[in-house]
Amino acid sequence: MIELSLEKARRWFTEEHEARLAPLAEFALGELNDRNRDAFGKGWIDWPAADHSALYREVDAIAADFRAKSNATVVIGIGGSYLGAQSALSMAKPAFTGEGDHEVIFAGQQLSPTYHAHLLQYLDKREVTLVVVSKSGTTLEPSAVFHTFREYLEKRSGVEEANRRICAITDAEKGSLRQFADERRYVTLPIPDDIGGRYSVLTAVGLLPMALAGIDYKRVMQGAARMREELAKLKVADHPAVKYALARHVLYQQGFVAEALVTYEPRVADFAGWWQQLFGESQGKDGTGLFPTMLRYTTDLHSMGQYVQDARKILVETVLDVHFSDEPELVVPRGLDEKNAYLDGVSFSRLQEVAVESVMVAHSEAGVPNILIRAKGDPESLYGELVYFFEIACAVGGYLMGTNPFDQPGVEAYKNEMRSRLKA
Ligand code: PA5
Repeated sequence: MIELSLEKARRWFTEEHEARLAPLAEFALGELNDRNRDAFGKGWIDWPAADHSALYREVDAIAADFRAKSNATVVIGIGGSYLGAQSALSMAKPAFTGEGDHEVIFAGQQLSPTYHAHLLQYLDKREVTLVVVSKSGTTLEPSAVFHTFREYLEKRSGVEEANRRICAITDAEKGSLRQFADERRYVTLPIPDDIGGRYSVLTAVGLLPMALAGIDYKRVMQGAARMREELAKLKVADHPAVKYALARHVLYQQGFVAEALVTYEPRVADFAGWWQQLFGESQGKDGTGLFPTMLRYTTDLHSMGQYVQDARKILVETVLDVHFSDEPELVVPRGLDEKNAYLDGVSFSRLQEVAVESVMVAHSEAGVPNILIRAKGDPESLYGELVYFFEIACAVGGYLMGTNPFDQPGVEAYKNEMRSRLKA
């Protein structure tokens, strides 16, 4: 269940704005629903409702095989080929896992020699499988790391056995990773042509890492399907994802330049990382777009809180207040000293609730618009619901701004520069 509250942003995004801009919102939603426009990027919209039983069988078989063969799987990918999977694992898997759990470790999301060399040393003590994820099959970071880790595995287990321990998730037909994987007879899973990286977490890109980590990914898909069905029924005036998109659009036009997704729950923090990429790559173009950033409260209240409260008012806060059905009850003990007595017997959930309310009041009164998105449910279904909700909001927001939310021409510049320097 996801609810939007604009109460603490109404000073800036008024009901009058909402009424006046309803035709623009209608237009943007229409652009999204026009499946012929930007069709190359819209495969994710109906994806949760389709029958994926064949894909599920393949995912389950690979996960079972890799879990039997190894106790650690390294998932190699960057951007949309890893942020979704990482955020799903953080949300749905306990942070402190027990001995004997199957580890899923991410790599190739940067170029650190230290990180990767230390990971290789660590793997010496583990039974290892690899999953390489790259839609294009040519991205520099995962390519460099994959071939390094592949060689490590081949030296350790021999080429034949290494080939049985590697899965490639890539385009169904084209690209150099597809060709390499077919030559080596790796097990493979496809990334649909019409689903771009940052919209791909509900495809094999996210589902296999979830299955490897023991997450019930079918519930994730059910959550996304439910959200799709709910949102599809709504008119613009009642549509929380469209309203959120419109509110941030208006705030941007009023001179706010950055939006922080604020989380209070560490297991949701990586979701903010996924959200950041989704909005950054989809909307940061043509000289426009809110700069998406993230704040982890209450931790960051003791660092960035000062800036948010008192510095130049450039920021919008979107508070993602999530409550999970598996949240344990933890209570502060009684009998505290006089100064701490107000905490006597108070539950941590109550502390968090009061923190959310107090911070929203303090910040909005100081001139920081606060949008509240409240979500409740079991971690798996809720993950699917949130993914779908924000994907719709992001794509609609792109159309509100008159940009294409499915391309990312700006990321090519650094890649081309690197390639030409490395080839020189
Ligand atoms: O959203 C996107 O398209 C990008 O962030 C890609 O996911 C990222 O660049 C990785 O690309 P690839 O999967 O082709 O290696």
